[in-house]
Amino acid sequence: MAGAGASQLSPRWMPFLSLLAVLCFLATQGLAVKENDFKKCSQSGFCKRNRAYADNAIALGPSWQAPYKISSELASFKDGQFQATILKTIDEQGTTVRLPLTISFLKSGTARVTVDEQRRQEKDIELRHNSQIRKERYNEAEKWAIVGGLEVDTEAKVSHQSETGIKILYGPNLAFEADIKYEPYSIEFKRGGATHIKLNDRGLMNLEHWRPKIEKPTPEKKEGEEGQEENKDETPEPDPTEDESTWWEESFGGNTDTKPRGPESVALDITFFGYEHVYGIPGHTGPLSLKETRGGEGNYAEPYRLYNSDVFEYILDSPMTLYGAIPIIQAQRKDSTVGVFWLNGAETWIDITKAKETKNPLALGGTDNINTRTHWISETGQMDVFVFLGPTPHDITKNYAELTGTTAMPQEFSIAYHQCRWNYVSDDDVKEVDRKMDRYNIPYDVIWLDLEYTDDRRYFTWDSNMFKDPISMGKQLDNHGRKLVTLIDPHIKNVGGYQIADELKSKGLAVKNKDGKDFDGWCWPGSSHWIDAFNPAAVKWWSSLFNYDRFKGTMENTFIWNDMNEPSVFNGPEVTMPKDNIHYGNWEHRDLHNINGMTFHGATYQGLLSRKKGELRRPFVLTRSYFAGSQRFGAMWTGDNQASWEHLGAAFPMIISHGVSGFPFSGADVGGFFGNPEPELLTRWYQAGAFYPFFRAHAHIDSRRREPFLLTEPYRSIVTSALRLRYSLLPAWYTEFYHANQDGSPILRPLFWTHPSEEAGFGIDDQFFVGSTGLLVKPVVEKDKATADIYIPDDEVYYDYFTYKRLPTAKGKRLAVEAPLEAIPLLLRGGHIVPRRDTPRRSSQLMKYDDYTLVVAVGKDDKAEGELYADDGDSFDYEKGQYLHRVFKLEGSTLASTDAEGRNAKSLKEGEWLKRMRSVFVDKVVIVGAPPAWSSKTEAQVESEGKKFSVPLEYHQAGGGKTGFAILKRVGVRIGADWTADFS
Ligand code: NOJ
Repeated sequence: MAGAGASQLSPRWMPFLSLLAVLCFLATQGLAVKENDFKKCSQSGFCKRNRAYADNAIALGPSWQAPYKISSELASFKDGQFQATILKTIDEQGTTVRLPLTISFLKSGTARVTVDEQRRQEKDIELRHNSQIRKERYNEAEKWAIVGGLEVDTEAKVSHQSETGIKILYGPNLAFEADIKYEPYSIEFKRGGATHIKLNDRGLMNLEHWRPKIEKPTPEKKEGEEGQEENKDETPEPDPTEDESTWWEESFGGNTDTKPRGPESVALDITFFGYEHVYGIPGHTGPLSLKETRGGEGNYAEPYRLYNSDVFEYILDSPMTLYGAIPIIQAQRKDSTVGVFWLNGAETWIDITKAKETKNPLALGGTDNINTRTHWISETGQMDVFVFLGPTPHDITKNYAELTGTTAMPQEFSIAYHQCRWNYVSDDDVKEVDRKMDRYNIPYDVIWLDLEYTDDRRYFTWDSNMFKDPISMGKQLDNHGRKLVTLIDPHIKNVGGYQIADELKSKGLAVKNKDGKDFDGWCWPGSSHWIDAFNPAAVKWWSSLFNYDRFKGTMENTFIWNDMNEPSVFNGPEVTMPKDNIHYGNWEHRDLHNINGMTFHGATYQGLLSRKKGELRRPFVLTRSYFAGSQRFGAMWTGDNQASWEHLGAAFPMIISHGVSGFPFSGADVGGFFGNPEPELLTRWYQAGAFYPFFRAHAHIDSRRREPFLLTEPYRSIVTSALRLRYSLLPAWYTEFYHANQDGSPILRPLFWTHPSEEAGFGIDDQFFVGSTGLLVKPVVEKDKATADIYIPDDEVYYDYFTYKRLPTAKGKRLAVEAPLEAIPLLLRGGHIVPRRDTPRRSSQLMKYDDYTLVVAVGKDDKAEGELYADDGDSFDYEKGQYLHRVFKLEGSTLASTDAEGRNAKSLKEGEWLKRMRSVFVDKVVIVGAPPAWSSKTEAQVESEGKKFSVPLEYHQAGGGKTGFAILKRVGVRIGADWTADFS
């Protein structure tokens, strides 16, 4: 191993090695994405084998005999679980391998199908060439991804049983059915009598069973010579029909992957009957509605790949892998949503094809239904599939969130605007940017320090020349209500005298190479080791490093950014770790690669939770790499994009895709990471970014400075307005984060999610609703574009957000909206009430006790409803009831505010925040779409806390004649109190 050798070299070689590291990096990180640095399916042995397996099965058609069957004697159903053994026939003599199958019917209505391989015999293990590693198939993905929802539904029951199969009713009111066929093995999942999902529909299931390695005679050793005799009995002849060229070793880009356990892939085909649209499996570029992957016009020729990677200058509209992996797909057809979650942490490929036919007589509709067929292929592990039968998109997100957890309740500042670049070069630089933002009245909450703040890329240290006094920097920021985020990566510089590295090594907490030595590779600091965050002892140690007295220079307003945690290894295969590296528990890296980033993110989250005894504050940690469950630890962003219009356009489908896949706290680098955006692009990007759940501007070290105050007019003012729009709507955003935290709901909601009956919206991914606020947005993402065509999905009334004018909308039609550079196409759907804070301030913290404005958009039925959730935005006191949750309703001529949960305020002992909120009021109510009859009104009667008083009402025409808007000013009711306003 080059790295291991390097660590023993004398110090005088180190500068050259650092240079080599940089060169190495530049070589891997050329000027454009090196597509060829990353595998195609045909270069990934197990993907190639499984695609060939599929081709063969499909070519054989009805004569294809899938080798998997359940033997009825071995099947049983009890207490919500079906257990059986699948027998896999592996040769013509009928030899079988036993694969234990468990189907658990969960209380939530989700079904879980797990297939393992029967534990192998000890004597077989000895035949492996690395006896260190585990003998089971990887079975710990659950441990990292799943946090609940596994309670089995004992009400599930058998409805029919015979020699050939079993049918089980389960789910809400036993409305779901699993129809399990024994030979060939398949499972149909039905709702309302129709099959929605079928596992092993095309018989492509393939669980490569363990087999002993057959040592080929070396050229020196001829057959029959010494050593050949002992293994004779255990080593069967190779099957000539199987291509074993990639079973035991595989090379790519000059790296060889030794495969101590041999071929072990797990694959399954899953068909969605009658579903043309499927979404999910982020992160990828490309449209929200996933494309077909087996070639043909407009399709991809490669499967979607999930293998967390540092893909430099990634290309758009591609199934190539990116930094994170969430293996959930949901399928949408009119009025029905279903989905599957493929729980596997290894490299995974997913083929998607769509076919206009219905083989299954039970599937809905006529023969022209479109079925979407998916083929899931993972390198190792158990088969573990969760099946969701909906029927709504919300059901899928809820069911998935029950399993993998919901978005962490964010630090309130973290949903405001973040100012980042690689790099703010000194503490003076940071202070100056902070001052300038103030000078130009541009709000922001967080300034970020990238890599270069450290002493020679040693994390938890500061460059003492450039950052002489980090605490004074932190204090200045704190005085303005602002925060600092610093970068901490998982690679630890391998250099003597660096305490963190010394501890990592002496405590044995690093990832090991295949020979059991600390793995050494190249990353930013040159030669590095990687913390193994799968190891509980490593997590404990790592957490302690964030204590204020260890990470000197940090304070309460410092938070953390985890980058490069795929992990990125500049000189590793596909810029990551060798798959035969070994983690805690003797698992190979190949088993858990896609989970790796999440464990590191989780360890950092733990660190921020325990920085000081008694301090219980919500962490904020941004991660680049993620897996199912990462939403519990913070935010993600879409990595190294480019300052181009195409990348601006690509960001929304990506962010939306993460949101509907359980990870709504996501964003893209505003302005584009690489390159220098022209002012128009940067301006449009801020307008778009104002609608990213995670809203951060970031730029590459070689790019020109582009803080918003550097823009000339009119751009600077337009960007400032976009930022102010975000700040004024923070109460609404925070309420949506609360919902994401409660049940996993997405924050940016595409039309398929909000209007699952409207097929015309299923392919739309450039406009979206912000949660349940009724705000419908279509930011401009094209150069020189001054209009936007917004698709209107229903016959509700819509208003222009800024002018309050009622718009001439019609269901199913596109509405042309003027969108000159200073305008963001933003509509307000009737029937909603949006909470805002309108006083412009420098940061969200300074708005904490500001009064509220309520914007009431009168619906077509003259009603409206909305919500506000608020808490201290920082601690966990909300878990003890220290929050406000109001529901506002307009009915007839009365607007009322009540507790959304019917809580009795008096029974709660108010903490400090709630006490201060006693003096926070509703300042203004704007009633958009107020009927013309109100034009003669001059006041409304308000009642609250036993008092009645009148509040002046101003009526304005909103243009267009028919409706106007009314404003109640200085309403003077406490935000936390019940009140009514009567307009009759
Ligand atoms: C890669 C990240 O994607 C980027 O955002 C960051 O600036 C660089 N690493 C340097 O830390």
